[in-house]
Amino acid sequence: MTSANANPSLHYADIEFDQQGIPESTLFADIYFSRKDGIAESNYVFIQHNDLHKRFAAISEYDSFVIAETGFGTGLNFLLAADLFLQKAPKNAHLYFTSFEKYPIRHADLVKIHQHWPQFSTLSSLLLARYPALLPGLQRIEIHPQITLDLYFSDVNDTLREWAEEHPRTVNAWFLDGFAPSKNPQMWDSKLFNAIALSLANHATFATFSATGNVRRQMLEAGLNVKKAKGFGRKREMLFGGIQKMGKPAQPAAQSIAIIGDGIAAATLAYELRNSNKRIHIFAAAEAAAAGASGNPQGAVYPLLQAQWTPSSDFYSHAHEFARQLYRSAVPNCWHESGVQQLSKSTPQLLKIRSIRSLNLYPDPYWQPQTQAQASVKANVPLPTPAVLLPTAGWVPAKQLVNELLEKVASHRKQSNLEFSVHFSCQILDIQALNACSSASSHQQWQLLLESTSKDFVAENLCFDQVIIAGGEKSTQLLPQALVPIRPVRGQITQLAVPDNHQLANLNQVLCGGGYITPVHQGLCCIGATFDKTRTDAIIDPNDDEQNLRQLRDDFSFSAPQSWVVANRASVRATTPDHLPLAGRVPKFVNGQLQEYSNLWLLSGLGARGLTSAPLAAALVAAQVENRPLPVTARINAALKPIRFAERARLRNKSIWVY
Ligand SMILES: Cc1cc2nc3c(=O)[nH]c(=O)nc-3n(C[C@H](O)[C@H](O)[C@H](O)COP(=O)(O)OP(=O)(O)OC[C@H]3O[C@@H](n4cnc5c(N)ncnc54)[C@H](O)[C@@H]3O)c2cc1C
Ligand SMILES: C[S@@+](CC[C@H](N)C(=O)[O-])C[C@H]1O[C@@H](n2cnc3c(N)ncnc32)[C@H](O)[C@@H]1O
Repeated sequence: MTSANANPSLHYADIEFDQQGIPESTLFADIYFSRKDGIAESNYVFIQHNDLHKRFAAISEYDSFVIAETGFGTGLNFLLAADLFLQKAPKNAHLYFTSFEKYPIRHADLVKIHQHWPQFSTLSSLLLARYPALLPGLQRIEIHPQITLDLYFSDVNDTLREWAEEHPRTVNAWFLDGFAPSKNPQMWDSKLFNAIALSLANHATFATFSATGNVRRQMLEAGLNVKKAKGFGRKREMLFGGIQKMGKPAQPAAQSIAIIGDGIAAATLAYELRNSNKRIHIFAAAEAAAAGASGNPQGAVYPLLQAQWTPSSDFYSHAHEFARQLYRSAVPNCWHESGVQQLSKSTPQLLKIRSIRSLNLYPDPYWQPQTQAQASVKANVPLPTPAVLLPTAGWVPAKQLVNELLEKVASHRKQSNLEFSVHFSCQILDIQALNACSSASSHQQWQLLLESTSKDFVAENLCFDQVIIAGGEKSTQLLPQALVPIRPVRGQITQLAVPDNHQLANLNQVLCGGGYITPVHQGLCCIGATFDKTRTDAIIDPNDDEQNLRQLRDDFSFSAPQSWVVANRASVRATTPDHLPLAGRVPKFVNGQLQEYSNLWLLSGLGARGLTSAPLAAALVAAQVENRPLPVTARINAALKPIRFAERARLRNKSIWVY
């Protein structure tokens, strides 16, 4: 039996190319697309029989359209649908395309295959530049401002059911691809059709090239309305159809969102909500952005490697890929993909590396064990131990990053004529439930009570349909009930002015051990960080600088004199007992029942890794606030829900702090 924390192993597709360069799967002995005309067949079966020309043109402003697919394969269906969407849909509409793929095609093979379709070269190069590493689970890729691709690397029959349960009535069009039922009978299972039926929105459609009696029967049994059409080319028949569902209970139309905080959590939330047509207001206690833990000059961004595929390693691997993609595309000035080396001094660390390697947990080039000599060459300084190199990791100037993200959102929303304000010097004192502050809303809203020291602030409408608390370690002060364990942990970083002729000036990667050191930036490098559970103040302490210098010596054998210390900064982390963020609805107890608020959200508990975890955790909260497809698997969503501690405590009759 495989353990819940085993990495579900993934394998690339084995492909052979014929003389015309048409790819064929050696495992399934079937072709990926028609030898005669792949584009014409995909167009006929999937685009035409889902009526996408007409439906894309009929999409309303700011609306979204969701397509799901079995078998991403070469991505041809995706390219066709995305290309058509960009031609037909309004410029502020969005396409979400989720595709389940058990045997992803290697990047090099995709490059070769896409050469068949020069008409899609722009979209293809965007896709190829972001094509993910072979990590199991869902990888969200922002291909274009209007197109999101969710590549779910898994057997569709292992994961579609839980995905559909999290996305009932969501999919507008299903592309049932996958090799022919005769070559791939396991995939065309009744489980598949039941899950598809659950995920289909009202008036949704589906299409498949297949027309076997078995497939048709299972579709009918799942409640789908099935029609036959003439197949493409010489194929006799194909199937398509739809589903009629009773109308979805009307969702109250949210019109406004308040975000409380000014750190990386608030900035990435604003970024993920940048295209929302709601009013968005950010409230920050400080006079400027990144006043809390997010205000350090440099911070490391890297995944958490573990010897098991736990919810933690699963989340942080995907969070790292997502953060890297976001920083690279949204704020390229702030992303330094230097590589991070984790030095492995102790026996447990070396054993961990050995077991990660033997279990084949992470794909190359995601992580690369290095001998001491190799590690030293890569870092460009002599290192005392072997290391693990994370080549796609790096560092960000955290304070600058938060500011640039907020500026980017502000200018994007200004251009799009969408309301957006950041109110500094506005401390939120309380969030009170109201039954509709304005006559325009018929649902429950929140009123913010605040204290402002800003002379520019005019208290207009402080009623919001949705409120997201992103106040770092101070978030607990705003939570109505103490059901979420956030523990403040103080930390201080130290900045060193390294003389140009010293070997440390040559360091070109981030090094991590018990602490970390970053490469020199604007004349200074950053070392840190202290981790003090006993203090919650942000007062500079010279003892902490000494501790950082000691750690530098112990971890990396670098001696730096006190005289190099030129600056320092102390702040407070928000940590959780399981080291995972809190991202989702705020929990509450009502008449002894544990429930969640429908429109009060939390993004906190980012601990010591917020620069890696915030973007994906923010995307998760934003997707739920906007009622869009989630960027993570059900497993990760469950692992991040703020209610998890109260649920576990109730089950074990213990406090939320006991984990
Ligand atoms: C010393 C140190 C070094 C670190 N190094 C790294 C690193 O290298 N890599 C990494 O990934 N992470 C690192 N971290 C962790 C990372 O900095 C945090 O996880 C992250 O910054 C948390 O972001 P946040 O937005 O949740 O909170 P914060 O950045 O703390 O922002 C919360 C903000 O909300 C405001 N606020 C709170 N309550 C209210 C209210 N009621 N009204 C209005 N405003 C309010 C606060 O004023 C604060 O500015 C480090 C942390 C520390 C302390
Ligand atoms: C014909 S190809 C798909 C073509 C693809 N839609 C395109 O546009 O290129 C079929 C794909 O289904 C994938 N597949 C087969 N069985 C699967 C399963 N059980 N779960 C997920 N993907 C599967 C194969 O690996 C292959 O990539």
